[in-house]
Amino acid sequence: MTQLRSFTFRRADAADILQVMQINLETLPENYPEFFFRDLLNKFPESFFVAESEGKLIGYIMCRMEGGISNFSISWVRKGHIVSVTVLPQYRRRGVGTELITRAINAMAECYDAKEVILEVRVSNTPAIAIYGKLKFSQIRTIRSYYRDGEDALLMAIQTANSH
Ligand SMILES: CC(C)(COP(=O)(O)OP(=O)(O)OC[C@H]1O[C@@H](n2cnc3c(N)ncnc32)[C@H](O)[C@@H]1OP(=O)(O)O)[C@@H](O)C(=O)NCCC(=O)NCCS
Repeated sequence: MTQLRSFTFRRADAADILQVMQINLETLPENYPEFFFRDLLNKFPESFFVAESEGKLIGYIMCRMEGGISNFSISWVRKGHIVSVTVLPQYRRRGVGTELITRAINAMAECYDAKEVILEVRVSNTPAIAIYGKLKFSQIRTIRSYYRDGEDALLMAIQTANSH
């Protein structure tokens, strides 16, 4: 458990899931059934983090591991996939997103041997594209009509400290 100004970061546990789902519903158009959140927590507990302020959850990040062709070389690699990350609007621009994403990247490299971390982001999501760019993610390619409403996704990826 560590603190960033008035925020606390820790791994999520099962008792957090309903609050995590509430934050997801309030802030993202991609919503999932409860079993989806619980399944990710059960399978990849080391890379599911929450941020708290005054005892209340204000953000989370959840991820999964998968294999695939590298985005940086011609090889098969273990990839960490950021499935969902969000911060409540009133707590944004204070470093919480950066801390959640950085923790998840490090955890997937250290605990699950991820060589790369990937994510999809809506092409219109300027704040998210900005934060990933600042964290040195590369823009790999556009995935046409990735989202249910037809919007394209930008696939972004970064190599972890384990990649060499
Ligand atoms: C994306 C998101 C998680 C960022 O969280 P955050 O806590 O505000 O991020 P940070 O405070 O760590 O921002 C770090 C940097 O990212 C960039 N950034 C973040 N929000 C930005 C915005 N609205 N416009 C431009 N740049 C932005 C800035 O460079 C910022 O650094 P700065 O504040 O020193 O300028 C947050 O905007 C969010 O929850 N959005 C809705 C959910 C979402 O879109 N999730 C991503 C789906 S792929």
